[in-house]
Amino acid sequence: MKKILLGAVMVVAIAGSLLIFHRKAAAPSSSGKPTASSPSSPAQSAATGFNKQRYSTSQPDSIWVVVNKPRPLDPINYVPMDLIVPDVPLRLAASQEQMHIRKQVEQPMKDLFAAAKQAGFQLSLGSGYRSFQYQKQLYDSYVATSGQAEADKTSARPGHSEHQTGLAFDVEITNMKCHLDKCLGDTPDGKWIAENAYKYGFIIRYTADKVAVTGYDYEPWHLRYVGTDLASELHKQNIETLEEFFNIPGGPNY
Ligand code: DAL
Ligand code: ZN
Repeated sequence: MKKILLGAVMVVAIAGSLLIFHRKAAAPSSSGKPTASSPSSPAQSAATGFNKQRYSTSQPDSIWVVVNKPRPLDPINYVPMDLIVPDVPLRLAASQEQMHIRKQVEQPMKDLFAAAKQAGFQLSLGSGYRSFQYQKQLYDSYVATSGQAEADKTSARPGHSEHQTGLAFDVEITNMKCHLDKCLGDTPDGKWIAENAYKYGFIIRYTADKVAVTGYDYEPWHLRYVGTDLASELHKQNIETLEEFFNIPGGPNY
């Protein structure tokens, strides 16, 4: 009888310690924010059950592709195969290159714009796909007017822009308040976008407190499609950048 009792106590003790271990492994950090010294690791992804290898972060047509200053598109003159003009309000004529995005971004974009409208905000597509050649023109024009150091803070060099993937776009608020300006983040429109974009698979790619990580100034208007799974996971873990989530180098240097 004593032996049976002892066995039962041991089973309960082992089960209890396993439960505690499991809870600890699954719990988010106390602040809810990752620290610089503890970027997400494969072990952490196993703990949360999120598969970080599900899509490529290097293939240019992957919805998880990470493009930044040290990480150009490969090939550098990549052109998406499925560009379309989305059925949303457009800033320019539909024939313009910038009014295109990749096919799979259209429905999420329509859903985002429709939800914004419900909330009282009128959004339009300001700038979507940009080819290597067009990004070069744009970047060169910024260099000509402001110098290379200033241009590099806000404009990607050709081959390094998310716009070239067809997965990113600059949102325009139809009333043009704080158009392409940091103050957009303080307007009701900008706040609504920042709080709700993830539900439709978008992230604000260049946030105010991650300039050192992304290598770019704050751009509350630049939305990047990554799909709802990843956008929700980033939101849940309170991680703002793809660089931190995937442990991929970024920063200000090419
Ligand atoms: N403004 C962003 C960084 C771009 O040029 O792609
Ligand atoms: Zn942009």
